[in-house]
Order: sequence, then C-alpha cells, then structure tokens
Amino acid sequence: MSEVGPRIIVALDYADAAPALDLATRLDPAHCRVKVGKQLFTRAGPDIVERLQARGFTVFLDLKFHDIPNTVAGACRAAAELGVWMVNVHASGGRRMMEAAREAVAAVAEPPLLIAVTVLTSLAREDLREIGVVAEAQELVARLATLAHACGLDGVVCSPKELRALAAALPPAFLRVTPGVRPAGADADDQARVATPADAIADGAHYLVVGRPITAAADPAAALRAIETQLAGARGASA
Ligand code: C5P
Repeated sequence: MSEVGPRIIVALDYADAAPALDLATRLDPAHCRVKVGKQLFTRAGPDIVERLQARGFTVFLDLKFHDIPNTVAGACRAAAELGVWMVNVHASGGRRMMEAAREAVAAVAEPPLLIAVTVLTSLAREDLREIGVVAEAQELVARLATLAHACGLDGVVCSPKELRALAAALPPAFLRVTPGVRPAGADADDQARVATPADAIADGAHYLVVGRPITAAADPAAALRAIETQLAGARGASA
C-alpha cells in the first residue's frame, strides 16, 4: 500500500452523473480523490468511474460488498479491473469472504487498496441486540478490524472516535479511512460525532472522507484548499 498523494477523499453523494461531473470540473485531482457510493453507482454505473478517472481522479468505489465469498470475489475483481484506487467490503462477511476478496484484487497488475467496514456507525446498541449481537460496538469494531488485518486487507473505514484505539491496536501502515470530518466551525449536518481534519489526522487517520463541507460549498475548490491549509498548519505545528 502507499499513502502518498492527497489525503482528502471527496464523497460524490449525488443522485446522478451530471452534478458529480460538474463538481469534478471544479476540483483538482492533484488535491483530492473522489468517492463513488451506492446511489451514484447504481444510477450511473461504471461509466461515471471511468469518466472521473479520465479526468485524472483516483476513485474510492464505496459499495461495501457483503455476500458469499465467490460473489464478493467476483465483484472485487470487477472493481479492480475498472482501475479504482480503493474498494471496500463488510468485515462481518467473515474470514473466507475477505480472503477471497483479497485474492481477487491481487489478480490485477495494479490492485486497488482493499479496506473493510467494521460496524456501521448507524447501529446503536439496541440495533445490535436486536440482530443478536451481544458485544459492545467498540469491542466488535476492534475484533473485526483485527480480523480484516489478519486476512491481508489494507485497512478499515472508521469513525473519528475509533481512530485512537485502532491506531494503538494495529500496525501503523494499516489504513484508517475516516468520515465524519468537519472543518473547525462548520455545520455537522447529520453527523453525530465529528472531528476536525487536523484532529482526525493527529488521531491516526490516513485518509479523510469529506462530503458536504466541500460539495455544498459555494466554492468547493476554496473549501478543499481551506481544509488542506488546516492540515498543513496542524502538521507544521506538530513537526
Ligand atoms: O457529507 P459528509 O461529509 O457527511 O459525507 C460523509 C461521507 O462518508 C458520506 O458518503 C457517508 O455516506 C460516508 N460515511 C459516513 N459515516 C460512516 C460511513 C460512511 O458519513 N460511518
């Protein structure tokens, strides 16, 4: 794995291709990566990924695959052949599913980074109980992240509140990709727990997923620059 290049991943949470491509024209691929999720992909398909790549962007295909090993392996191979930079699966699919995913992406010349979702942050304790999970969410996050590492995955998606524990428990190069990031003073939108970009990096995030603070800004490029400036200032201060 390599963590060179832009650390900010802009979430293109749009209903169709036009606004996603419009935003892309306003951003510089030297300064950010982009994330294509289920809604945009279901509407616009691989074509949107290819068009973003043609404009120089590296793409995190955020489809969170979760199925039997053979099916997830096939989906991951298709993502790898599409040339995406990063793809993800649910760690709760288990060891054989993650190992099959890892082997599938390794079959292409330049494999994407393969990361795992541990426990959806939308699940509260009572939701976990209802589906028969008796462990506390934090304990389950640690268990699933450790399993993802053991299966040879490159990292996990995790919330700002999980960063420190995962950084302490797993090797430094095991990637932590963190949503729920808000520049100082910005609206939290519907995110319950937010961290500033500088705090998330200081707590051990390798990459930051940022949506509305950039996509809903009057000047998205300026909003991206402002986050980069906050990161540079924080790193300079701690250097
Ligand atoms: O607009 P905002 O910055 O909140 O977007 C964050 C992105 O990260 C969205 O695409 C959202 O689906 C994703 N995400 C999240 N929280 C998680 C996992 C993913 O906000 N726990």
